[in-house]
Amino acid sequence: MKNLKLIGPITQVLTMERLPLKGALKDEQLEILENAGILIEGEKILEVGSWQRLKKEFPQAELFELEGNFVAMPGLIDCHTHSCFGGSRAGDFAMRNAGKTYLEIAQAGGGIWDTVTQTRKLRLEELAEKTVINSNRHLSDGVTTIEVKSGYGLSVEEELKMLRAIQLANQSTPTDLISTCLAAHMKPRDYEGTNSEYLQHLSSELFPILKTEKLTKRIDAFVEKSAFSPEEIGPYFKKAKEMGFDITVHADQFTTGGSKVAVEFGALSADHLEASTASEIALLATSNTISVALPGASIGLGCAFTPARKILDQGGALAIASDWNPGSAPMGDLLAQASILATFEKLNTAEVLSGITFRAAAALRLSDRGRISSGKLADFILFPTSDYREILYNQGKMKPKMVWKIGSLEVGGWRFGGLELGKFGS
Ligand code: NIG
Ligand code: FE
Repeated sequence: MKNLKLIGPITQVLTMERLPLKGALKDEQLEILENAGILIEGEKILEVGSWQRLKKEFPQAELFELEGNFVAMPGLIDCHTHSCFGGSRAGDFAMRNAGKTYLEIAQAGGGIWDTVTQTRKLRLEELAEKTVINSNRHLSDGVTTIEVKSGYGLSVEEELKMLRAIQLANQSTPTDLISTCLAAHMKPRDYEGTNSEYLQHLSSELFPILKTEKLTKRIDAFVEKSAFSPEEIGPYFKKAKEMGFDITVHADQFTTGGSKVAVEFGALSADHLEASTASEIALLATSNTISVALPGASIGLGCAFTPARKILDQGGALAIASDWNPGSAPMGDLLAQASILATFEKLNTAEVLSGITFRAAAALRLSDRGRISSGKLADFILFPTSDYREILYNQGKMKPKMVWKIGSLEVGGWRFGGLELGKFGS
């Protein structure tokens, strides 16, 4: 065994082990290891357990001996963002707060189209750089895996530029970027043809290049009155599935219809769901499609929250993501938003933390992360506290003091004024 690292003693390690993918949880189900160590070999966790025992059994391990109280949990997973974009929509935000609706602004040429115009102006490298900056900010908040959508290009070439920029950004940030093609975000204003023609054009011209360049494994669409109807999106998803892509859907944000399509096509996730009613919730609960709540969009738009409590009580799988985008969800703070959703929807700590770890990983078809256990990627974060409940209680203001990503310490407390040398690693 080589390249061993041992981190500890950690006051509490929330392993997130033995929690099911679906349904409501109780906080008593959380596995909490006290006075524990995490042993890493290369990129993976070799063992988690008693600090004293691991220290004795692995004297050859490089020691990262901590002073003070820490709570460790898996690196956060943000399974829905639009964090690759140009420009700002501060004007939209101000207009919405002055009384205009999201849809009115969109119809007047603002909204998504405004960001498309701004994003098209950027060169691939500039877009990649912006994405790296956003990703590193997210990493310092503890997010070690970030899904990033295209969808502000809306032509074959511009969508390719976005996805290539995300691929390039992924090589320049320690956090993992999982790309998704959202060319079906809306029909671009400069496309002369019907919605169905636009979608047909994408599936015949864009999909094959996504495959050959390995730009993404995932296809998303905005199923909504202002974007694409369930009938229009059906053939698009059918083609995507035939070509081996995973499906994910922007569903039931303002009107219903999207979640039904998501379940019908075996989508990995149906995201938004603010408008879902009892029948959509019941349908999602019986399916393998993960429901993704996006509290950042509810906060950004001043809309109702996703009925997360009902989804869990019906037996559904619930993940929580930031939806970070310049329009509806500019905050981009996953932990703050998940904490706020918890207070409004009455979600307990186990349910919230599951929604931003292994349940979010499942929405990305990733089984190698989201829990702290032997064989998983060594992606974990340490908060400067002795009580895991402080994490949500601080509503995003308590930042992790350390962020470990595939076995490397990537963020080491600079938010708190920098690492004090000699405090660990001695
Ligand atoms: O998830 N709802 C559609 N798409 C994004 C918003 C994108 C934008 O407004 O730029 C969302 O909220
Ligand atoms: Fe979104």
